[in-house]
Amino acid sequence: MATHFKIDGLKAAIDGKEILKGLSLEIKGGEVHAIMGPNGTGKSTLASSLMGHPKYEVTSGEVSLNGEDVLEMAVDERARAGLFLAMQYPSEISGVTNSDFLRSAINARREEGKEISLIKFIRLMEGKMKELEMNPEFMHRYLNEGFSGGEKKRNEILQMMMLDPSIVILDEIDSGLDIDALKIVANGVNAMRSEDRGFLIITHYQRLLDYIKPDFVHVMMQGRIVKSGGPELAERLESEGYDWVKEELGIVDETVGQV
Ligand SMILES: Nc1ncnc2c1ncn2[C@@H]1O[C@H](COP(=O)(O)OP(=O)(O)OP(=O)(O)O)[C@@H](O)[C@H]1O
Ligand SMILES: [Mg+2]
Repeated sequence: MATHFKIDGLKAAIDGKEILKGLSLEIKGGEVHAIMGPNGTGKSTLASSLMGHPKYEVTSGEVSLNGEDVLEMAVDERARAGLFLAMQYPSEISGVTNSDFLRSAINARREEGKEISLIKFIRLMEGKMKELEMNPEFMHRYLNEGFSGGEKKRNEILQMMMLDPSIVILDEIDSGLDIDALKIVANGVNAMRSEDRGFLIITHYQRLLDYIKPDFVHVMMQGRIVKSGGPELAERLESEGYDWVKEELGIVDETVGQV
């Protein structure tokens, strides 16, 4: 079935405070959507709410992937259904090696008895790590423990490549990457673009979108998408900032931390 991810009127709160205030967005297979917006407008909250992070309480709205109700699914079911999030701040998990983590994640998405063989898994992981120019020692290090900021981001992309998801959410994948790493990561993402996979890329900078060309660019403010357009919208935001959007739409009180 063709990939179709639909978010309709999503509202979500944290500790009783509403952060997402009715956000709607549709992503179809083959499309790359970018979301830009000032700090604290709820972009990471959107990503975490879609993945089912327990801290975020969805109070209304609907989210579906290929007609299936995502909000009804537990976190692991969402991953199995094909949702993937590369987090803005990836967590460190001590005691679990990168390869153990990825192998269990792959096997969790397969039927019993159809688990990936160790040899096949290692070949796959070595191949993807090579593409991302990662040192093979990262296979055996504890997940993200002591990784530099950029190494964590590259590792998130490794996970994406290994898990082969149908909807990929990248939350500030460009932050902390050096110039060469940015190109490597972007190449990794571009190689994953396909007709049955959709992308939601959260970023602050046009620079990433020079490498990963989006089909649609959305501006998020105050917990919802307030403006959508093509790549030219990102260019204008980069050169002019957000004031013109606020003026155009009559948005007031958009200050950091106050949504
Ligand atoms: N765990 C939390 N506890 C309290 N407040 C939170 C929590 N998570 C998010 N918030 C608040 O929700 C608002 C939205 O945060 P969010 O991280 O989604 O913003 P963002 O758009 O991703 O910002 P940035 O561009 O800085 O990453 C902020 O005001 C933030 O302080
Ligand atoms: Mg964020």
